[in-house]
Amino acid sequence: MGRAIIAGNWKMNLTPSQGVALVKELLPKIEGAGCEVVLCVPFVDIAPVAGALTGSKVRLGAQNLHFKASGAYTGEVSAAMLKEAGAEYVIIGHSERRQYFAESDETVNLKALFALENGLIPIVCVGESLAQRESGETNAFVAGQVRAALQGIGAQAAKGIVLAYEPIWAIGTGRVATNEQANETIGAIRKTLGELYGPETAKGITIQYGGSMNAQNADGLMAMPEIDGGLIGGASLKAEDFAAIVRAASR
Ligand code: PGA
Repeated sequence: MGRAIIAGNWKMNLTPSQGVALVKELLPKIEGAGCEVVLCVPFVDIAPVAGALTGSKVRLGAQNLHFKASGAYTGEVSAAMLKEAGAEYVIIGHSERRQYFAESDETVNLKALFALENGLIPIVCVGESLAQRESGETNAFVAGQVRAALQGIGAQAAKGIVLAYEPIWAIGTGRVATNEQANETIGAIRKTLGELYGPETAKGITIQYGGSMNAQNADGLMAMPEIDGGLIGGASLKAEDFAAIVRAASR
């Protein structure tokens, strides 16, 4: 479907020197990768990791941004700052930000719009809770999140976004969605994109799976027709595990 992208989400892990050390260990292991590889690192790691990535095809991303260009927003980071530091991607609406930092569908939408306008590729995260999955609301809930996140984004701009389907109950829990669950919900997301932008555009948009993806389960997930890569938390902190996932996505 969309092009395969494996993105590491380091979350609040690895100081700048630790991040550079991980990248030095990782690069030789993923030489010749057949998919796009992105590392979404803490703000202060972006510039030093960009240095360590010089000459490689691995791209850099941030984990959040603000939706204003500049101004009196203490503690926030702007798109221009991220780009100058070396980021090309930015994760928006991760469930941890929705849960702990009051990120709403509305701010996710503002951030996605602002990222696109400023030349950053948003990786917009959606996903249901365990209660929602168990009560059969998953596809309707996730479709609503997608529609809210993409409000005001036209078909042309939508080609420049990445979506990540991350069931909340699978994040950091070791409890991965089955290949079929992930494939089915991503198919439902693609159907929503088709309703918004037409089926051709929907086919070309990368939709990743995220949630306890690791070296062992990556092959099975990546073999599913709807799944275009992964957003990897815990396993992105270990060079060999992350490299194995990149290899799975390259097959
Ligand atoms: P996990 O995190 O791989 O550690 O489950 C994924 C994510 O939150 O992006």
